[in-house]
Amino acid sequence: PDRYAVMGNPIAHSRSPHIHTLFARQTHQHLVYEAMLVEPGHLATAIALFREAGGQGLNITVPFKQDAWRLAEVLNPRAERAGAVNTLLWGNDGRLIGDNTDGIGLVRDLTQNLKQVLTDRHVLLLGAGGAARGVIGPLLETHPARLRVANRTAEKARELARLFEDAGNVEGSGLNELDADRFDLIINATAAGLDSEVPAIPSSLIGEHSCCYDMMYGNQPTAFVNWARNHGAALAVDGLGMLVEQAAESFYLWRGVRPDTPPVIAALRSGL
Ligand code: ATR
Repeated sequence: PDRYAVMGNPIAHSRSPHIHTLFARQTHQHLVYEAMLVEPGHLATAIALFREAGGQGLNITVPFKQDAWRLAEVLNPRAERAGAVNTLLWGNDGRLIGDNTDGIGLVRDLTQNLKQVLTDRHVLLLGAGGAARGVIGPLLETHPARLRVANRTAEKARELARLFEDAGNVEGSGLNELDADRFDLIINATAAGLDSEVPAIPSSLIGEHSCCYDMMYGNQPTAFVNWARNHGAALAVDGLGMLVEQAAESFYLWRGVRPDTPPVIAALRSGL
C-alpha cells in the first residue's frame, strides 16, 4: 500500500490516522496512514527518511507547520499566504510541494456541513497566531461584509490584517476594542481553550442568529462552545468538522478522490 503519515509533537492523540483510514475504506484506496512523533529540529530529516521509505504524502501539525512552510520547495498560493503548511506531497519532478488545507476545511465545514452563509455577513476571528493566519485568506474568499481579526495583543491582529488587506475587507484590533458590535459569525482561533479559558470578549457580541465556531475540539464541549451556548448563540460548534474537512482536502490532493465527509464526522462524533 501507499504510505502516508502525520508528523507532530505531541502526536499520540491525533485523530488523523483514524480519519484517513475511514476515507480510504470509503473510497477503496489502498493506503496506510500513521502518526509519527518528531523531535523539534528534526522535521527535515524525518521527511527525508519517510520519502526514502516510500512515503507518498504527509500532514504536518503542531508545532511544525511553519517549519514545513520553510522546507517546501514549491508552495501553493494558499499555503504561501497562510505562512504555514499542513500538507506535503512530492511533484512528478520530485520536488516537495507544500499546501495548506486548514482554511478551506473551515470554510467547507461552515458553509456545506453547517449551512452558514458568510457572504455579506459580519465575521469576527479571535486570535492572531498561526491558526488564525491560516484561515484568513479562505474566509475572505467567501466575501464577508467585513472580517474583524481581534487579538489579546492588538498589534498582532493589526499586522495580520495588513498582510491580507488586498484580499478583502479585513481589520485588526484588540479584544478590548470590541464593544457595541454584533457579529453573525464568531470564530475562536486562540489557544485560550488549551487552558479551558475563553478569550475576554463581551457576550453582547452574540446576536440571536449568531453562530459561534471553535477551531478547537475535544471529547467534551470546549470552553468557548459552552460560553457561546450559555450566552444564547443560535449555533455553537467545535472544530471536529474542520478537522475532517481539512483532512478530506489533503486526501484529495494526494489521491485525486474526494471522500464523503458527513459520515466520517458522524462516526467521530459518536466515538466510533
Ligand atoms: P496558534 O498557532 O495555535 O495560533 P500561537 O501562534 O501561539 O498558536 O497563538 C496563540 C493565540 O492564542 C494568540 O492569538 C494568543 O494571543 P496573544 O497574541 O495575545 O498571545 C491567543 N491566546 C492564547 N491564550 C489566550 C487567552 N487566555 N485569551 C485570549 N487569547 C489567548
